[in-house]
Amino acid sequence: METKLKPVDTSVWRKKPLAAYEADMKKSELKRVLTRWSLTSLGIGAVIGGGVFVLTGIAANEWAGPALALAFVMAGVACAFAALCYAEFASILPVEGSAYAYSYGTVGEIFAWLIGWNLILEYMMGATTVAVSWSGYFEKLLHLLGINPPIWLMNDPVTAQEKAEKLRAAGEAIPDFAFAVNLPAFLIVWGVTWVLVKGIKEAASTNNAIVILKVATVIFVIIAGSFFVDVANWTPFIPNPVIDAGGQQHYGFNGIVTAAGIVFFAYIGFDAVSTQAGEAINPKKDVPFAIIASLIICTVLYILVSLVLTGMVKYDALDLKAPVAQAFADQGLTWAVYLITIAAIAGLTSVMLVMMLGQTRIFLGMAKDGLLPKNLFASIHPTFKTPWKSTILVGAIVSTVAALTPIDKVSELCSSGTLLAFAMICGAVWLLRVREPNLERPYRTPALPVVATLGILANLYLMYNLRTDTKISFLIWCSLGLVVYFLYSRRHSHLNNPPE
Ligand code: ALA
Repeated sequence: METKLKPVDTSVWRKKPLAAYEADMKKSELKRVLTRWSLTSLGIGAVIGGGVFVLTGIAANEWAGPALALAFVMAGVACAFAALCYAEFASILPVEGSAYAYSYGTVGEIFAWLIGWNLILEYMMGATTVAVSWSGYFEKLLHLLGINPPIWLMNDPVTAQEKAEKLRAAGEAIPDFAFAVNLPAFLIVWGVTWVLVKGIKEAASTNNAIVILKVATVIFVIIAGSFFVDVANWTPFIPNPVIDAGGQQHYGFNGIVTAAGIVFFAYIGFDAVSTQAGEAINPKKDVPFAIIASLIICTVLYILVSLVLTGMVKYDALDLKAPVAQAFADQGLTWAVYLITIAAIAGLTSVMLVMMLGQTRIFLGMAKDGLLPKNLFASIHPTFKTPWKSTILVGAIVSTVAALTPIDKVSELCSSGTLLAFAMICGAVWLLRVREPNLERPYRTPALPVVATLGILANLYLMYNLRTDTKISFLIWCSLGLVVYFLYSRRHSHLNNPPE
């Protein structure tokens, strides 16, 4: 056969032949059980979480004021460009592995590897951030019930010592402790891991129930909250700029951009739908649908929540930790505080579920291509039909990091990886249009050159606005990825052994 005689392509830009994707899909041992609405629900499950329940407070209070809604529009637009491009890719290559898989077939191995490496930041660091937020809300629930566990059981070592010192300075008698662990974060990650090992169907139905509760609560916040809106709180809609001691501008246009970078985290996850293509009944049509539908639904909900929140409470009085629950507490609606806290806990659980699920499917895609060890990342459980070893590994890493690490910078690191992956995917889908114009595309991104260009610029702009130390950590992460690529992945890539 002709392929036998071909010399091996050793370039880092070598591409996985598109025909190989079809072959992979036929061989897939994953069960095809997900409908278009299950996929949309997975998308919403991954998206609505810590971003809207926690970060809205910081973004409005410190950066955007009532113009928080505009920050959500800005971040939503950057995501929309990426989503439109993702959708075209998903319709061409309905395989698990997300942006990684798409770019392997189009741009080249090293580009795909870097995307996959950055998606680890998105999914694993995203799940870690959310696990710690979950623990915070869980602690709030315990307080509401009159239970106050010791600091060292609810926080990582650094945060626990900081909190203890603050409380001691305020005159409270906090005993010394030698060790601290965020036990709730650790345990919830293992709970989610167990559901994921048991199977996608169970995970999907658990997720559907949580998503309904979460969306219902957000709609409740919008409708019930609208009765307490005082329009005077929206004036001025864009507060006058204030420059802080470090020279950074709060409020005004620049403040809105910074807020957009913060609330970008709230949108992360809609692309998780694309990691589930291997389990979708009709991936070519339903994955693009679900990506776009989940993003539209969440954007509308976020904008309305922002308007209601900043209308209920003057922006500079918004709570920084649990702004949504606190806005209702301020109105004396204690039962609503319970409802929101419980829904946030459930909602954050579903974000973790989808993030960790997505991570294992990306690993699966990379392992099938030989870029990661197959016996660990592509081993499917004979009964559950899930990549159980990799799920347990992801659970072990996420639970350990969540239990022991202060989390404040992790969410930005998560955003940086995601923003670069989004920018890269916008470029890749455009490149594929130029290189392979005749491929069957059940979904086509409208006005592609414009959408792709704006997508690249918008995502890189938000990335540029991240803090310097985040950018440095991100560069270290990318360098580490290149080391792994050259030491392991390149040597083990299946493209070293073209098919016979
Ligand atoms: N978008 C997800 C959240 O806000 C990551 O929790």
